[in-house]
Amino acid sequence: MAEILRVEDLRVSYHGRDHTVRAVDGVSFGVEPGRTLAIVGESGCGKTTIALATLGLVPSPGRIDGGRVLFEGRDLLGMKDGDLRPLRGRAISMIFQDPSSGLNPVLTVGSQLDEMIRTHTAVSKREARRMTLEALRRQRLADPERVVDAYPFQLSGGMCQRVMIAIATVLRPKVIIADEPTSALDVTQQAVVLRDLDGLREHLGAAIVLITHDLGVVAGMADDVAVMYGGRIVERASAADVFARPRHPYSAGLMAARPRVDRPDERLTPIRGAPPEPGSTAPECAFLPRCPKAISICRSEPWPALVEVAEAHHAACFNPMFQPEAAPARRG
Ligand SMILES: Nc1ncnc2c1ncn2[C@@H]1O[C@H](COP(=O)(O)OP(=O)(O)OP(=O)(O)O)[C@@H](O)[C@H]1O
Ligand code: SF4
Ligand SMILES: [Mg+2]
Repeated sequence: MAEILRVEDLRVSYHGRDHTVRAVDGVSFGVEPGRTLAIVGESGCGKTTIALATLGLVPSPGRIDGGRVLFEGRDLLGMKDGDLRPLRGRAISMIFQDPSSGLNPVLTVGSQLDEMIRTHTAVSKREARRMTLEALRRQRLADPERVVDAYPFQLSGGMCQRVMIAIATVLRPKVIIADEPTSALDVTQQAVVLRDLDGLREHLGAAIVLITHDLGVVAGMADDVAVMYGGRIVERASAADVFARPRHPYSAGLMAARPRVDRPDERLTPIRGAPPEPGSTAPECAFLPRCPKAISICRSEPWPALVEVAEAHHAACFNPMFQPEAAPARRG
């Protein structure tokens, strides 16, 4: 099926007084209707910036330096805000990592949901309120009649997160970008929210871009995975392939460090070292200082491009792991 959302060579930077941080550096990916792409990586690798750039919401001092974001073939980055606004929330919606960025503190929950519905549809006030209450009920918010009149500050973090999910999903968008949608929730609530998101994918054919650093969530929900490091995608493949046969040493490190339900007593292998400094402009592979697989070319050449190293499996590495043995040369 054709990709409904395609991001191509996206580059975004933040410009401080003394230095510039290239937060996203040539990222490309696509997602098809009815599929979930997970974007994973350590804190600061650029995940939220990608999400914000996709909807034209990069805050100052950020700037989109280049690339394309194609939704149903139309480039959102080239659109005027007036053309983009009707798509936000209706066709593509975002669940923000931090509820305070997604909710207006001076409006009640009900008026925020009603406004979203009435901005994008021609329904009556009464119908909008019915849809609002139903959306809150779907998020299993106890006593939605009370929540509807509450202001965000009167709700717990977990409740705010679920209100935000209600707002993002009430109009059944075609693409949902969910940035750490469950980080403010307890384990039971997490499972409910993820099941609901998966339901939207299954029943409505929504495409989901799921940003997370929880590999358990990825294993449970994602069809495909993009692993990010230092502002770039370093590995992209099906979730099954990344878990079973990671090709990039960083992804392999993440997989080795993940807690195993089946082996709870086994010691984890943390990835040694720290992520690259934001704004680092070193030309070589940013994972070099932490890489157990580095070879001499890694020190002499610029960061390798993301290339296909196995069928439908891309990695940006001079020494991709699990490379099949080369076939022995035939004797003449
Ligand atoms: N408003 C901003 N001003 C300046 N720099 C920023 C701003 N927002 C993000 N950055 C920088 O851009 C880089 C990417 O940040 P981003 O928030 O996209 O990362 P992330 O992968 O979402 O991290 P996390 O997992 O912690 O949410 C980081 O180095 C961050 O410091
Ligand atoms: S390019 Fe070299 S340093 Fe970078 S991840 Fe691959 S092996 Fe390691
Ligand atoms: Mg983030």
